[in-house]
Amino acid sequence: MFNLIVKVSTEEDAFLESVRAAMEEYFGDDQRRIDHALQVSLYARELLSYIDADPVQTLAAAYLHDIGIPEAERVHGSSAGNFQEIEGPPVAAEILAKLNTEDVLASSIVKIVGNHHTSGAIDSTEFRIIWDADALVNFAPVLPGKSEAQIESVLQGHMVTEAGYRMARNIFLKDTESHKQCLTGHRPAILP
Ligand SMILES: [Fe+2]
Repeated sequence: MFNLIVKVSTEEDAFLESVRAAMEEYFGDDQRRIDHALQVSLYARELLSYIDADPVQTLAAAYLHDIGIPEAERVHGSSAGNFQEIEGPPVAAEILAKLNTEDVLASSIVKIVGNHHTSGAIDSTEFRIIWDADALVNFAPVLPGKSEAQIESVLQGHMVTEAGYRMARNIFLKDTESHKQCLTGHRPAILP
């Protein structure tokens, strides 16, 4: 699915489907976590249509990036980012080993899982895509209702790809326009 733009081989697609299935199995009945990972993977796919990056590494990391949450909650009583970064890598590594993932690919995915809350650790295009795809999902319940200036400031400070920044502006500043429209009863000016 969605492979018209993001080109992966049949084998790679089968691998990604296995990673997705393993993620869903690991999260079990926690549908909220599953939905979040799937939403992040959809944004990652969209970003991959604008950004040259390894789609297999990127999409597998999108499925697995939050895989440390259950262990973080069990061991530390918290899903805080730093605990996810500690607990996620062994879980991701075990899932990828079971799927016979090639070592270099597995370690690059695990590295993203283990750093995905640390902006200073962003060291690859694939990681940048995960960072922005995660933000596009996580900002959805947070940004609508804020002022345009606040939204602009958050996006400029957080987004790390041009495509991600533009997508976020398109989503969240449009939301601001419709919010204003609701408040004032006026339609915003339609620009060419
Ligand atoms: Fe996430």
